Amino acid sequence: LSLREFTRQLPKAELHLHIEGTLEPDLIFKLAQRNQITLPYPDQASLQAAYQFTDLQSFLDLYYAGAGVLIHEQDFFDMSWAYFLRAQADGIVHTEIMFDPQTHTARGVAMETVFAGIARAARQARSELGISSYLILSFLRHLSEADAFETLKAALPLREQYADLWVAIGLDSSEKGNPPAKFEKVYAHGRELGFRLVAHAGEEGPASYVRDALQLLNVERIDHGVRSQDDPALMQYLIDHAIPLTVCPLSNIKLKVFDSLDQHNLKHLLDRGLNVCVNSDDPAYFGGYLLDNYMQTAQALGLQEADLRTLAANSLRASFLPKEKQQFWL
Ligand code: ADE
Ligand code: ZN
Repeated sequence: LSLREFTRQLPKAELHLHIEGTLEPDLIFKLAQRNQITLPYPDQASLQAAYQFTDLQSFLDLYYAGAGVLIHEQDFFDMSWAYFLRAQADGIVHTEIMFDPQTHTARGVAMETVFAGIARAARQARSELGISSYLILSFLRHLSEADAFETLKAALPLREQYADLWVAIGLDSSEKGNPPAKFEKVYAHGRELGFRLVAHAGEEGPASYVRDALQLLNVERIDHGVRSQDDPALMQYLIDHAIPLTVCPLSNIKLKVFDSLDQHNLKHLLDRGLNVCVNSDDPAYFGGYLLDNYMQTAQALGLQEADLRTLAANSLRASFLPKEKQQFWL
């Protein structure tokens, strides 16, 4: 058994995945044609040639532009279904998918359209592929807290209809200059409503944002969190409380959080006893889906079967699945 096949066969959860970040260039062109949208790139190759990022913002600019081809329920379904097929090929048994409604509602797409397309694919993945999923409605942190409140308000009427899927709230987009404190009230409200809470923190932003996400927003899981290493007291807190960090190695290289994969701190965090797992973030933009993230990281950092086993088990234990469902896979 090759290490890749060994890792593929490990039951794995993916907990940090933006569904809009799974939109492949060929589907962007297909949807653009279907929806009669003119793209600023003549062909797929020239679009892909633009995937040369210098930081988070340079990626986000392209990512939001790409999502502009999503108009109809079928578009959201097609994007999501393509992801579930990839997930199945990589041996993913459960996935917690972030989506950015503001990217779509700001263009006049109805909240229902976004939910309906993603949810139809998720339910079909459950019945046909045996992959379970939850949805994480994520607020764009470059927009105001009032805008986040509006978004939550627009989504709440759909809560019952999608109760099997929509269990959590998240926070993504431009991190620097948009600290967790900006969203304290909307997170408090989300908590009162019974949502599970996650937030991106410590990707480009400082370790203090990780601290603030935990203390001010009350999140139970941190997306990225790799910059926590700069704060020894925070590191100890993360260890003592087994706070999950959803680390995204290929993303961190493409967005220049680390210079190269062999400089990545995943192995260090793992050896210190942090509750880390591996994720793909925006695989259509960062050059690999989940199994590629595991394998390229294993190669660069010398991860052995035992490490890979721990990372996969961590992903299931850090998921929002009820304990008995986690146990089924462990
Ligand atoms: N939105 C999509 N991917 C993201 C990332 N890596 N960081 C922040 N916001 C994002
Ligand atoms: Zn992310």
